Amino acid sequence: MTPTWVRAAELAASVLFILALKGLSSPKSARRGNLLGALGATIATFVAFFYGETFFGGPIQHLPEILVAIIIGSIIGWIAAKRVQMTQMPQMVALFNGVGGGAAAVISVIEFLSAGNEETVAMLTATIFTVVVGSVSFTGSLLTFAKLQELMTSRPVVIPLGRFITIGVAVGTVVTAVALVMNPSNTLLWLLLGLSLTLGILLVLPVGGADVPIVISLLNAFTGLSVAASGYVLGNVLLIVAGTLVGASGTLLTRMMAQAMGRPLTNTLFGAFTAKATTATASAEDRPVKSASPDDVAIMLAYARKVIIVPGYGLAVAQAQNTIRELVELLVAKGIEVDYAIHPVAGRMPGHMNVLLAEANVPYDQLKEMDEINPEFPATDVALVVGANDVVNPAARDDKTAPIYGMPILNVDQAQQVVFLKRSMRPGFAGIENEVLFDPKTSLLFGDAKDSLTKVVSALKSL
Ligand code: TAP
Repeated sequence: MTPTWVRAAELAASVLFILALKGLSSPKSARRGNLLGALGATIATFVAFFYGETFFGGPIQHLPEILVAIIIGSIIGWIAAKRVQMTQMPQMVALFNGVGGGAAAVISVIEFLSAGNEETVAMLTATIFTVVVGSVSFTGSLLTFAKLQELMTSRPVVIPLGRFITIGVAVGTVVTAVALVMNPSNTLLWLLLGLSLTLGILLVLPVGGADVPIVISLLNAFTGLSVAASGYVLGNVLLIVAGTLVGASGTLLTRMMAQAMGRPLTNTLFGAFTAKATTATASAEDRPVKSASPDDVAIMLAYARKVIIVPGYGLAVAQAQNTIRELVELLVAKGIEVDYAIHPVAGRMPGHMNVLLAEANVPYDQLKEMDEINPEFPATDVALVVGANDVVNPAARDDKTAPIYGMPILNVDQAQQVVFLKRSMRPGFAGIENEVLFDPKTSLLFGDAKDSLTKVVSALKSL
């Protein structure tokens, strides 16, 4: 019988995981949530060490090897987490998630090889489910990592007859999985592993550009489900609780992100198979734009009554969050009404702008969500777009062939004047031109956002 202290520790860890999720739902409490989650994971690990039956059905074996693996993994994880830039966070999440899915699949393969023939049907089903979902998550996540790290093109890759091959491999995977449950055999297991690993690649290859983060979130949910199933296989309550929480929250996040981008999930996953090739419009260099100096921008801002700041990925790259806060403080001191417009997928990860601006101590009440701020653009004198592009691109509203078509945007084109701070005429993440840049009411201040903002701040101070 499992001792009471083990059950109590499991309960405490489960409650901590739930409180962690609750904390992570707001930037104010996110740090506390993260720490609670880490504490829950530490308790779970200690339980496994001091009471091996929960994980291993007996006292822990191969302790020296396990400790060496933990030390190596911890060192790699520590260095990676210290070094990673905020803008590279999605890649890191993808990589860690893939490793989690792969680990769940490996555990289930080992379980099958050691006890496959003696397992009950329910147990076999859970084992095989973990092999399939964990493997899909493993190769799919590694591919999203490669795309975001630009080790390969981040655009959709459509192979000839790709849709039929994917359907064929998916059907083959299901058929092999059912056959394995009915008639366990090692040969079928290796076939299933190969098919599942291939399926992960085939599912992610045609996903590109702005949709990659949605897929990372979906694969994260897959990993959660495979971990929950492996908890069932190993008879471990904590794995079931943690896996289910990750599966449920990952599914919700995926849905919310797909909604923020204005498209159904099926379109994200299979859109590239049906998309028509889009032809590039005239090169941006060929068309005239209106550039402005820092002094021009300072004057425009100083004479405005209402200004909306639209931060985007470039603000994070330039690390200009403190400089923008300084600019806003100056404007507010002049009696100008200023708000930040936060698009749900601005930047490169969910909540990126909130985290960035919170880091610079920008008051939360200045941050306005998209739906709240959009009606205010027509009455706005200046929309100051700092390193954002796709999230203000009207092609998402008007151009059915655009890869971002359907994504709700911040309607900066409805403001009286628009100022873009960017370095060049290069497009944003989705790789498409933005008509607002060529609008006569738009001015462009070229340069790194931090340099430009610093110059605008000093010009404002000398006005
Ligand atoms: P983007 O459309 O990627 O535009 C970023 C802009 O910043 C570019 O115009 C770039 O132009 C400029 N920029 C880059 N570095 C800069 C610097 N140092 N100083 C000044 N400007 C700089 O960004 P967005 O509007 O935030 O949209 C986000 C995009 O990423 C969406 O398509 C979204 O779907 C996708 N995405 C989102 C996430 C999540 S969950 N947030 C994750 C992955 C991808 P220059 O190069 O000319 O400077």
